[in-house]
Amino acid sequence: MSERTIATQNDRRNVPYTTSGEDAVRHFDDAISSWLGFRRETDDHLKLALKADPDFLMGHVARGYFMKLFAVRALDGRVGEAITAAKQSALQGGATQRERDHIAALSAWHRDDWQGALESWEKILLDNPLDVLALKLAYHIYFYLGDARNIRDSVARVLYAWNEDTPGHGFVLGMYAFGLEECGDYTNAEAVGNRAVEINPADVWAIHAVVHVLEMQGRHREGTDWLKTSEKTWINCNNFANHLWWHGALLLMDLERYHAVLDGYDSRIRAEETDEYLDIVNAASLLWRLEETGIDVGGRWVELADKAEAHARDHKLAFADAHYMMALAADGRIESAEAMIQSMTAHAKASEGMTATIYGEIGAPLCAAFLAYSCGDFDRTVELLRPMRYDLRYIGGSAAQQDIFQRLLVSAAVRAGRLGIARSLMSERSADRPSSVWNWRTYARVLAALDDEPGAVAAWRKARDLVAGLTL
Ligand SMILES: [Fe+2]
Repeated sequence: MSERTIATQNDRRNVPYTTSGEDAVRHFDDAISSWLGFRRETDDHLKLALKADPDFLMGHVARGYFMKLFAVRALDGRVGEAITAAKQSALQGGATQRERDHIAALSAWHRDDWQGALESWEKILLDNPLDVLALKLAYHIYFYLGDARNIRDSVARVLYAWNEDTPGHGFVLGMYAFGLEECGDYTNAEAVGNRAVEINPADVWAIHAVVHVLEMQGRHREGTDWLKTSEKTWINCNNFANHLWWHGALLLMDLERYHAVLDGYDSRIRAEETDEYLDIVNAASLLWRLEETGIDVGGRWVELADKAEAHARDHKLAFADAHYMMALAADGRIESAEAMIQSMTAHAKASEGMTATIYGEIGAPLCAAFLAYSCGDFDRTVELLRPMRYDLRYIGGSAAQQDIFQRLLVSAAVRAGRLGIARSLMSERSADRPSSVWNWRTYARVLAALDDEPGAVAAWRKARDLVAGLTL
């Protein structure tokens, strides 16, 4: 039996922790705040917490969670070790029900049982609405299930317990703002996001929520200004800064400032050639859009395809896999791409529940659609994507990130000469997002190909007026 003096200590929100280390919870608090703020020091704080109490149950759980967030198979062993250590701590020093539920959540996530993990976090939140770790992790999983309503409502369900005096209140508002945005409630999303940034100007997620609103509403110049004026607060955050640069690039893309986009790609978005999935997602998504617009991206796919190949059998996030596939397909690595699709199908067959459905019915066919497109089989891309285009959201990602899958269908329909389908899709898109220059440019091309000259001219004018208005 350990000689530790086990005690309960509360964090800044009065959530209790079982620990023997005097400073463990203080460092843990710092780790959570740092993580919510996308700071680079998160791991340092967590190490200090575990140094203060090497048997700190929630320290081990958080270590496992943070490794899971990398979404790479190579870390599975270390996640398993964190679970073992947490269980050992519970045996030696006891644990609260909340802490046991956290161990259950991590264990479920570790075996790809997302539903099980969500159930544990939601259970925790019923009695502990200030457990921001459980809140943010549930939110993360809802995001990668494309469950916009729960991205918003998982936060809304605990708002009753938070007020302006609760430490971290701003972070929760920032999370809520993004949920509102993903549900299309742009007015409230912008107001709540702005309030979160007022509370904490360095709240990167809240800044990001507002830029999503500006992107979806086609407020390109405001979006660019918003990122520029807030840049000093997020430029030194962790690799999430690359995602904000990516948003800046999207805004420039629609203004047709392609050289600026490429400059940003080289100097910011891909300045550091990491293999973290979000970095690859940002980069692949941007290169694909540029090429689809007819811009020569040179040899930039090669290093991305190298990284993608190394993760082609991780199968932790189908959304990331789709972007790995973009790199493999665009770089002409057909054999690797085909092997990856087979591996995704096998993963689906070996899995149960959501993972089986997401990989088998959405992820693998989507990747096959990207590969077919790169091989010039545009008909096949259309046949694969068209029946499931409303289901694509279930592999996760934001509406802004998901748009590339819908554009793939449009581009394939145009190239396959299936202009009736292309026209119907562009009619739909231009109604949904009339401030998108890309929408009107593409619509004009489709209508011109259908010999609808007045329609094409009208669409060209809309694109031209948007660019002129936006670049004043
Ligand atoms: Fe985003």
